[in-house]
Amino acid sequence: MAMKSAPTELSITHDLLGLATERAQRYIETIRDRRVAPSDKDVAVLSRLHEPFPNSSSDPREVLKTLDEIGSPATVATTGGRYFGFVTGGSLPVVTAANWLAGAWDQNAGLRCMSPIAAELEDIVLRWICEAFGLPAECEGGLTTCATAANFTALCAARYALLNKAGWNVVEDGLFGAPPIDVVVGAEVHASILKALSLAGLGNKRVTAVEADGQGRMRADKLPKLNERTIVCIQAGNVNTGAFDPAEEICRHAREQGAWVHVDGAFGLWAGVSPKYNHLTRGFENADSWATDTHKWPNVSYDSGVVLVRDGAALRAAMTMSAAYLTAGTRREPMHQTPDSSRRARGVELWAALKTLGRAGLAELIERTCAHAQTFAAGLQAAGFEVLNEVVINQVLVSFGSGDITREVIRRLQEEGTCWCGGTEWQGKTAMRISVSSWATTEADVQRSLAAMVRIARECGA
Ligand SMILES: Cc1ncc(COP(=O)(O)O)c(C=O)c1O
Repeated sequence: MAMKSAPTELSITHDLLGLATERAQRYIETIRDRRVAPSDKDVAVLSRLHEPFPNSSSDPREVLKTLDEIGSPATVATTGGRYFGFVTGGSLPVVTAANWLAGAWDQNAGLRCMSPIAAELEDIVLRWICEAFGLPAECEGGLTTCATAANFTALCAARYALLNKAGWNVVEDGLFGAPPIDVVVGAEVHASILKALSLAGLGNKRVTAVEADGQGRMRADKLPKLNERTIVCIQAGNVNTGAFDPAEEICRHAREQGAWVHVDGAFGLWAGVSPKYNHLTRGFENADSWATDTHKWPNVSYDSGVVLVRDGAALRAAMTMSAAYLTAGTRREPMHQTPDSSRRARGVELWAALKTLGRAGLAELIERTCAHAQTFAAGLQAAGFEVLNEVVINQVLVSFGSGDITREVIRRLQEEGTCWCGGTEWQGKTAMRISVSSWATTEADVQRSLAAMVRIARECGA
């Protein structure tokens, strides 16, 4: 039955969307001309938003205007091409557009009956990602908020599977009194895994950390004894160096001992899509579970994590929730693969990105950003600064001398506004991190940013 909205409602929506389009377009069109981090003044203006919970209603047009006028200047220009902090993609134009459409749809993607389109798009993107990573077709998975949630989800599946084999049902009986599970990580494990382990009740202190080499790769020859109740967490792409653990060797050994291997591939797994870089991801397909992000290298909007598990039954056993009113169909139900039940339809933007890029476009994006990282490394070395890592993908670590000088360069660079880089400590040395993860970064952005880095470093006495 066709329902007619009241004309006033329609015209208000039309008005608001027009206003949002106009303001969003202005934001996007000027993003490259503004400083990357907001100025202190623009951040200070945020205080104007603080007020007691309003008693009366406001005109939605005025609300949108306030959001843009106060909010837009206090954003960080992560979509502008010169943001190299953390590992941050800028959303592709088609992603932003698909996000608007998805906003209009406002689908709850928890169950297939709540949104057939959302469930179907999830099915499709999960299969495409399995194909892109060369993972077994029987994998099941889901879309999460982020890699940390994906790591958590996969570790819950691992926990369920290993304990189930030992005759213990963790869903029913919990962890108290359960047979112990040993966890093995590399010494340069990402903090995300440690958080996920603690959420999964596996703790941090009980974890065995295996020695890593100078690039942060787990030393396979230093692995402890593994058994059927061990989870080994390996990494595809170290957040500082971009290095990959030796997956082939570790997975072979783990499989012989019946251990579960989980891969934290928040961004690095995507390197496997490029023929130029796929030697780095060789062997990761032999693991049991994988976590990645599409809001990093594939440039999908936040929040967009992905979990994949070879033993789909274990994932479902760990994640299913049932109630009489939650009528599940006979096909995959998104709610039964991840911790959250109601959720936005993350598959919409992800599908739009992968469909638009295709394998070739994704490979080109990966290779282009890696080439920019090489240009940064070469430029900084030519200027006399020490690059601390082998630049294998899109991550560069640079030292400008002492810890104090390097920290000061980072501070002034962030303040100056041409570009934005963060800092880190890498195996005893203070470093500036450059992560080139955005489709929007051009050669001109790299040269302009390099010039700012070198000039500021000189001013700091480096
Ligand atoms: C290797 C690795 N794992 C996990 C994460 C955490 O990702 P998220 O913030 O999406 O949870 C990151 C973030 O950079 C990462 O590099």
